Amino acid sequence: MGILSSSIARKVAMALSALFLVFFLLMHVSVNLVSVFSEEAFNTASHFMGTNPLIQFVMQPILIFGVVFHFVLGFILELKNKKAVGVSYAKNNGAANSTWMSRNMIYSGLAILAFIVLHFIDFWFPEINHKYIEVLPEDPTRYYHELREKFVNPIRVGAYVIAFVFLILHLLHGFQSAFQSMGMNNKYSKGLKTFGKAYAIIIPLLFIFIALFHHFTH
Ligand code: HEM
Repeated sequence: MGILSSSIARKVAMALSALFLVFFLLMHVSVNLVSVFSEEAFNTASHFMGTNPLIQFVMQPILIFGVVFHFVLGFILELKNKKAVGVSYAKNNGAANSTWMSRNMIYSGLAILAFIVLHFIDFWFPEINHKYIEVLPEDPTRYYHELREKFVNPIRVGAYVIAFVFLILHLLHGFQSAFQSMGMNNKYSKGLKTFGKAYAIIIPLLFIFIALFHHFTH
């Protein structure tokens, strides 16, 4: 019997990995926002993130593990929930006992997964190739232009924006569900719920703003 064999343990693990990813998104949007204000500062921040050994060889593997863990466990939870349909007390009666978004976490999750595949093809693989495979000459001023290039094509910008809308939906329900799994019911609950809603909407909107900003100022 593994540590994740109980339904509660799985839900708590799902919530903890989600909280970690939420923290990552905050870091990510902060670095990206710099690109709106200053080319030089963005290049400095990106060069630091891309070459610092602690970020590259400790944080990056932990992050990749966190993303894979969250997706795999998400699928397992979905499959278990589907199986539970036959059991009357756990029956999912559509709108009668669950919200539309909670039943569609797997679909918003899949849309975000599709985005991450596209996003890795756009940014991560070329970066890994540049640094570790072809080992091209390092130019600490290249990051800003590479980012701007990615937001020229309107189809890609559209795909990114659609993915960010799915991210809003996923985060909105995700926060709610994570707070519930953690048994959140104390005097801080109300404030945390408001924070969750604000985060779920503001962070993806900032990503949308960054993508549109680079597209329209090109
Ligand atoms: C306008 C929006 C975004 C832009 C401009 C952007 C840009 C970037 C850039 C430049 C990298 C660095 C690649 C590298 O050097 O390794 C990156 C990595 C990454 N991004 Fe984004 N990103 C955006 C939105 C998102 C969102 C919404 C997510 C998650 C849902 C996400 C997930 C990731 C992940 C997981 C990585 C890999 C991190 C690593 O291990 O290096 N990104 N992104």
